[in-house]
Amino acid sequence: MADGDIHSHKVLILDFGSQYTRLIARRVREIGVYCEIWGHEPDRGAFDAFAPQGIILSGGPDSAAAPYRPPLEGGQAKQRRSLQLSGGGTQGSVPRPPDWLYESGVPLLGICYGMQLMAERFGGRVEASAKSEFGYARLDVSAPSRLFDGIQDRLNEDGAPQLDVWMSHGDRVTAPPPGFTPVAATANTPIAAISDEARGLYGIQFHPEVTHTLQGLPLLQRFVLDICGCEARWKPAAIIDNAIANIRRKVGGEGKVLLALSGGVDSAVTAALLHKAIGPRLVCVFVDNGLLRMNEGDEVMAAFARDMGVEVIRVDAEERFLSALAGVTDPEEKRRIIGNTFIEVFEEEATRLKEKKGEPVEWLAQGTIYPDVIESAAADTGKAHLIKSHHNVGGLPAEMKLQLLEPLRELFKDEVRRIGLELGLPHDRVHRHPFPGPGLGVRVLGEVKKEFCDILRRADAVFIEELRAADLYQEVSQAFAVFLPVKSVGVTGDARRYAYIISLRAVETVDFMTARWARLPPELLETVSRRIMNEIPEVARVTYDISAKPPSTIEWE
Ligand code: XMP
Repeated sequence: MADGDIHSHKVLILDFGSQYTRLIARRVREIGVYCEIWGHEPDRGAFDAFAPQGIILSGGPDSAAAPYRPPLEGGQAKQRRSLQLSGGGTQGSVPRPPDWLYESGVPLLGICYGMQLMAERFGGRVEASAKSEFGYARLDVSAPSRLFDGIQDRLNEDGAPQLDVWMSHGDRVTAPPPGFTPVAATANTPIAAISDEARGLYGIQFHPEVTHTLQGLPLLQRFVLDICGCEARWKPAAIIDNAIANIRRKVGGEGKVLLALSGGVDSAVTAALLHKAIGPRLVCVFVDNGLLRMNEGDEVMAAFARDMGVEVIRVDAEERFLSALAGVTDPEEKRRIIGNTFIEVFEEEATRLKEKKGEPVEWLAQGTIYPDVIESAAADTGKAHLIKSHHNVGGLPAEMKLQLLEPLRELFKDEVRRIGLELGLPHDRVHRHPFPGPGLGVRVLGEVKKEFCDILRRADAVFIEELRAADLYQEVSQAFAVFLPVKSVGVTGDARRYAYIISLRAVETVDFMTARWARLPPELLETVSRRIMNEIPEVARVTYDISAKPPSTIEWE
């Protein structure tokens, strides 16, 4: 399939800082349409080049309520436009899109703050409500609109369509802009949706992207497919065809592609994709850093080298990593050392490969996915705070002058998983919990020693085995054991045990930015605790971590 095809129908999402922005993008992709998330002040040239068929303005934490601006008319409008343009589209301190966006003729859907911005821009009134509205609300459709036509949960007592929607807002639109019609209302928000059907401009106060809004997906579908006229071309098989064609075109007829294989979902799918695209020209390097889980190295070799026929060079570098980590207790320092040692080992292997086989290695493949791209863009604009320096293979290795190949760069995690399954990877590999780059290095608290890693590996294996046996592995987002290098007293039979502590951690999360601790059944925790204590004499106590993120993080370091 030609490159342009799956991207030729697309939607642009402008991010105003809502916690749900990514969810909007995932829903649009789910509908089968390609979309990108951009900052709220897009460059005109980039916008024209991207040429979206639809625009969605996300919600956001800011207030479009003040100052109230009267309707735009004639010269006034021109004057305001020039003011806004000179301000780069941001007037006052709150983020606003540039004016030209509204005049691009592209259908636009404003969600929550996005609706308020649009209302305010066209001369409607936005005001702070006496009380904010959060949670379910009943929305009554009060006037015909293409957006809502035929979409309802039920009819209300007046026979009008009614929907259960999810609200999360403080401000609200109290007067629609000229040319706009209020088309839906809730008890607290009389103007809960507005539309200017002729110009294809829609605003909704509720959040269609969250699953609580039952008709959310049909509503987004209506906007994206019917109103914007996009075709659903963004489908796993087409994405794979497109990626393969791209890889082949980029790497040309010769030269090897090197991939650092960790066995995690992203690198596994990258490997499967590259293997399908270029077969034996893919060479994977799997670095056993001694910080892996039980049997992980053997499993990766079995899955890729044996079952898939991929060339995988396994490097046993346990000693090298552990000696580099000796005496180091600071988590960030540990991450730095693990990252750097990884690069050294990887570079040595690449050089060896070049020398041994005399074949040019020209490309370095990485499993970068779309959230990584969004996050680094946010980091570039200074909006993301460094909490932990997530060790990625990113930026590897400059001196080798390899060109970068990132075939998953446009994909969300759930899309990566779907593609992995489509490529024939086993379900278990595709649905594994994430495992951090520095591995057990950040799960053994303080100094990392082989003895501690061995204990942790055994405890972690028991936990995961029992979680799977109870059919709960897929119910939690991430589960693992943590090693605490402090000793605690216990008794076994008549003897006193003075040994280490293991903490179990299991979380539920959608985006790993926030998480709640998983309410695992006490019987399961009891079995895990008993087994760890019976099978690992070096452990005297097992605890369960009941911290949420925030304020804690998922990993302990
Ligand atoms: P935190 O601990 O920041 O974890 O709440 C969020 C997610 O990121 C993973 N994580 C890492 N992944 N390198 C990685 O590749 C790291 O240094 C790292 N630290 C945390 C963590 O496992 C969780 O999924």
